[in-house]
Amino acid sequence: MRHFDILNPNLDSTRQMFNELENDLRSSKIDLGIGIYRDERGEAPVFKAVKKAEKILFQNENSKSYKSPSGNKKYCENILELVLGKKIINDRNGKIGSIQIPGAGSGLRIAGELIKSKTKNKTISVPNPTWGQQTFMFQKSGLNVLKHDYYDEKNNFLDFDNMLKCINNLKSGDALLLHGCCHNPTGADLSLEQWSIVANLCKKNGVLPFIDLVYQGLGHGINEDVLGIQNLIKIVPEVILTVSSSKTFGVYRDRCGLFAVITDAERVTSQSLETMLSEIARELYFHPPDHAASIINILLADENLKEEWLSELSSMQNRIVSLRQQIGKSFQDKRQTDFFSFLKSQSGMFSLLPISNEGIIELRKKSGIYLMPDGRINIASVRENQIDFITTEICSLKEFQGRKI
Ligand SMILES: Cc1ncc(COP(=O)(O)O)c(C=O)c1O
Repeated sequence: MRHFDILNPNLDSTRQMFNELENDLRSSKIDLGIGIYRDERGEAPVFKAVKKAEKILFQNENSKSYKSPSGNKKYCENILELVLGKKIINDRNGKIGSIQIPGAGSGLRIAGELIKSKTKNKTISVPNPTWGQQTFMFQKSGLNVLKHDYYDEKNNFLDFDNMLKCINNLKSGDALLLHGCCHNPTGADLSLEQWSIVANLCKKNGVLPFIDLVYQGLGHGINEDVLGIQNLIKIVPEVILTVSSSKTFGVYRDRCGLFAVITDAERVTSQSLETMLSEIARELYFHPPDHAASIINILLADENLKEEWLSELSSMQNRIVSLRQQIGKSFQDKRQTDFFSFLKSQSGMFSLLPISNEGIIELRKKSGIYLMPDGRINIASVRENQIDFITTEICSLKEFQGRKI
């Protein structure tokens, strides 16, 4: 008997797409799938400020001994301050527990375990559509996963009325997934007022929000991108939060993020929350890597490095905004319609293009343009000199002929 007599395990459509991309030998192929920021040369370089902080770490690091399953405490303080601001931290004094984790991807699984073990319904509602990995991880954690309306894919707008109706149907004790900013895959975010409306509904109906924040700084700015979250936390009694440092500091492969629980429960202390979270971490992966967390601490403690990082982040954000304008305009010029104006007003790296499965495959095979299977395009992966080619190829798809858009 052999336990591992396996030929080709089934891959989902996303992983199949990345396999095809890797095996495509055309030098002209264009990867609009992967969720990383690329600069005007199509490269994903390390932030200069991060590189400098890393050099300081190399010079000064005198031990690589274990920390603990709760990771780097200073990093947690730093990230909480960046996301929540000092006022919320003071107001919630002693009622925030956080651990450093190997990226928000792990945060999804920790949230799954937490919701499964601590809430009565073991249920989470996710936006339709949402990033597939979220649903996958919640399901693998054993949660019951519901979907709430979020986006009208035909007309490209945030369907807030139906979102509220769905949230209103959730039961007390259900959890609700909210993207902190730059919704993946649609780029359509709640307004500040809508964040408050959702928060009040959650409070009234006993629904527990879980916020997944991955793109802070790439939507409207480092402070602006977290105002909605702050609005919500001022209203609801309890929140789960995971934060990624992958994009905001460009440390993707070094795996670094934060997981936090905020409550107003009477007997709880930060320490009791942290112990609870570190026990989940210990069960899943034992200890998180420390490298990126230590780099981020060095960077944030140095005024010059912090300023350099903020300025690099802000030029990335400006470039995304500019690409959105250019791509939107290129479509509009070719189609003589303002249908594609949603590309200009959405935020962050992603938007959904209204292209059928057949169209997506045709683009891949004929033009070497790789979109995600759901039609998600990574705006930040487009080079200025590719815009005309990309929009021409998309507009010449059969399905666009005779269509009004
Ligand atoms: C919505 C969302 N959550 C979580 C993640 C995972 O981030 P990390 O690299 O921190 O694991 C991503 C990454 O693309 C994402 O888009």
